[in-house]
Amino acid sequence: MDKFVIHGGKPLRGKVRVNGSKNSALPILIATLLTDETCVIDNVPNLRDIRTTYKLLEELGKKITVKGKTVRIEYHRKLKTKAPYDLVKQMRASILVAGPLLARFGKARVSLPGGCAIGLRPIDIHSKAFEALGAETANAGGDLLYTAKKIRSGKVTFRFASVGATENVMTLAAATPGEITIENAAREPEIEDLADFLNKMGATVTGAGTRRIRIRGAETLAGVRHTVIADRIETGTLLLACGATGGKLTLAGAVPDHLEAVIESLKKSGAEVKTVKGGLEICAPLRPRPVSIRTKVHPGFPTDLQAPWMAYMCRAKGKSRVNESIFERRYLHAAELGRLGARIRVDGPNAVVDGVPILQGATIMASDIRAGAALIIAGLSAQGVTEIHRVYHIDRGYERIERKLRSVGARIRRVAA
Ligand code: EPZ
Repeated sequence: MDKFVIHGGKPLRGKVRVNGSKNSALPILIATLLTDETCVIDNVPNLRDIRTTYKLLEELGKKITVKGKTVRIEYHRKLKTKAPYDLVKQMRASILVAGPLLARFGKARVSLPGGCAIGLRPIDIHSKAFEALGAETANAGGDLLYTAKKIRSGKVTFRFASVGATENVMTLAAATPGEITIENAAREPEIEDLADFLNKMGATVTGAGTRRIRIRGAETLAGVRHTVIADRIETGTLLLACGATGGKLTLAGAVPDHLEAVIESLKKSGAEVKTVKGGLEICAPLRPRPVSIRTKVHPGFPTDLQAPWMAYMCRAKGKSRVNESIFERRYLHAAELGRLGARIRVDGPNAVVDGVPILQGATIMASDIRAGAALIIAGLSAQGVTEIHRVYHIDRGYERIERKLRSVGARIRRVAA
């Protein structure tokens, strides 16, 4: 298992291009199950969860050809309707196969995705929505079995604006004649990107990006070409890595509108963030002012940047607060940051970060994708050497991030541990 070795204390300087969005590419790749025609997706990042998705699509019956950041998904054989445990356990987003399979074949068998480091991750909102539209759910040997003689038109109202459940109902509805409405839908940019893809295929999706999404489905959907939007979480991670090192970065391909809450908090902390042609530019002070955050559904502060933000606040000139309102235990990074000398107190969904002038390098361990990103940020801003173990968590959501950081001056290398 690889580890990262970081010699911290050096400001990041230069220009990097952000990748395509993992959390947009995953639902769009899975939505190609809606058609037997060929789809070509561009700007797809090369990272573990994407490769797991290819394996899942091949297991179900698709032929996948990857050339750089372009992926071709073709018909290979009649689709299976079961997503196997060994793939689902690696990636919870596998549950997104349910929408397309249920719509086309009236059944989908998905191994119950387990919890993960950040929470129990139930899928009750997905199941209740499917049932409201005519499906039945059953548990069979650790698998979830969705069946439906006919998916009916109608309205589903989410108790919480779940991203995955929104995506699952959108794909179910896209291949179902009639109209399905989602109330209290997720409003993330990735939802809008999926809607664009489904509209190109021949569905009629309106309202994506708002709380109410209407989908008029079609009997058959066409194979199309689509370019995935930029990764706003990678963008935010790079902005915070620059902020934590007092550097100056230009992020080519970044979309400012996707990160308004984060940019506002960065500006409050004393960083200069501005929109430049084709991207974003940040110029950060040596130490930030303390700024408290509360994670919310989009367009609020994204939960996926809570850990990176906490790392940025470790050397702030004062006390800041974090409230994590989306996941029930997304603070595993706090203890690891404490090993570098950060002063963080966690109490349930709240954390208080007492900024210190200096962090000292140490050996620490990643527990999930974004906690791992937070450890990199803290290591870059610490004095001395930081070793980060279990880098495979980070590789799930970031494409060779050490190369991107090295290209703007970071002293970071990957070592086979
Ligand atoms: C997506 O996960 C993202 N993953 C997550 O990013 C992100 O953290 C999350 O949205 C929130 O923005 C992908 O897009 C692949 P949710 P998802 O359904 O769809 C609870 C990363 O690091 N919930 O909006 O699973 C759930 O437990 C990953 O890239 C239910 O209770 O998120 C959580 O507390 C991590 N019942 C909250 O809602 C349900 O049926 C948010 O979940 C579904 C969700």
